[in-house]
Amino acid sequence: MTTHKGLKLVDRDEEGVDTAFRSDVLDGLSQPQKAIPARWLYDDAGSQLFEDITQLPEYYPTRAETEILRDRADEFAEMIGPGRAVVEFGSGSSVKTPLLLSAIKPAAYVPLDISGDFLRAAANDLSAKFPGLPVHPVEADFMRKVELPSEIDELPNLGFFPGSTIGNMVARTAVDLLRNMRETLGTGAQLLIGMDLIKDEDVLVAAYDDAAGVTAEFNYNLMRRINRELEGDIPIDALTHEARWNDDFARIEMHLVAGRNIEFSVHGRRFEMKVGETIHTENSHKFNRRTSNMLLLAAGWEPQARWLDSKGRFSLLLAEARPERSAP
Ligand code: AVJ
Repeated sequence: MTTHKGLKLVDRDEEGVDTAFRSDVLDGLSQPQKAIPARWLYDDAGSQLFEDITQLPEYYPTRAETEILRDRADEFAEMIGPGRAVVEFGSGSSVKTPLLLSAIKPAAYVPLDISGDFLRAAANDLSAKFPGLPVHPVEADFMRKVELPSEIDELPNLGFFPGSTIGNMVARTAVDLLRNMRETLGTGAQLLIGMDLIKDEDVLVAAYDDAAGVTAEFNYNLMRRINRELEGDIPIDALTHEARWNDDFARIEMHLVAGRNIEFSVHGRRFEMKVGETIHTENSHKFNRRTSNMLLLAAGWEPQARWLDSKGRFSLLLAEARPERSAP
């Protein structure tokens, strides 16, 4: 196993504060609709809370996607074929990644992640499960084009982006990412990507506002992180977690709603919220066959196949980076 060491991916000031986190929070809280990019939900505590969410009865996406990977192995094998380098965007899950790898007989596995620790842990785990499979972890920000390790230069690639993580992005960002993936993987590559489906509003809202309150904790954890890391005094008890369906944009939005007028400071800057005002903390876009195909096509990926779980809740799509042609 070789590790490709990049430059420092997190910038910290003299006090050890993550400067990108600080500027995202200060800018986000200064907008008329307060909003903080969802990536900051995933510190160690937040990543653990998300793991807990995947076990909740209301949160179907992880189970539905795992079911597809488990039950359709023969069809993946047929459509993808053996001998590809599997490039996973994100360090991989201990359940989904092995299901894919045993289905298709790949020639190499390349996990990409911004967090070196997660990455090495996942790579070690995988090497143990698949002795003989070359594993080349790359520490990188996969939102940009990534230089893949030279060891896989001659291999056709399969990008793997499960979990409906693409759903966290607005269309413009999603298209940028999918185009960069096409650049990273090259013409002739395939992409296997998970996208959650539009469904009954009650089912969607329950998945993001569970009875046990784990998703609420996940949302509050972001406020705790701000208070701890950015010298904040946000009164978290005055905020209530809310999951809202935005039908125009086909997405679940997570908000924190002020239950009374509040004032607080973060890094010496004062902010106020009137009762009912919210901080928007995450989007989770949902798709149907046409919108998922459109998103892929907009980024130069030709849809090849689509699989749903037995209850029709979640989709896995396979697409191909065909050479560009000029004809209609
Ligand atoms: C990790 C982005 C797939 O949008 O379903 C789960 C995150 N947020 N519950 C999702 C999440 C609240 C999750 N993704």
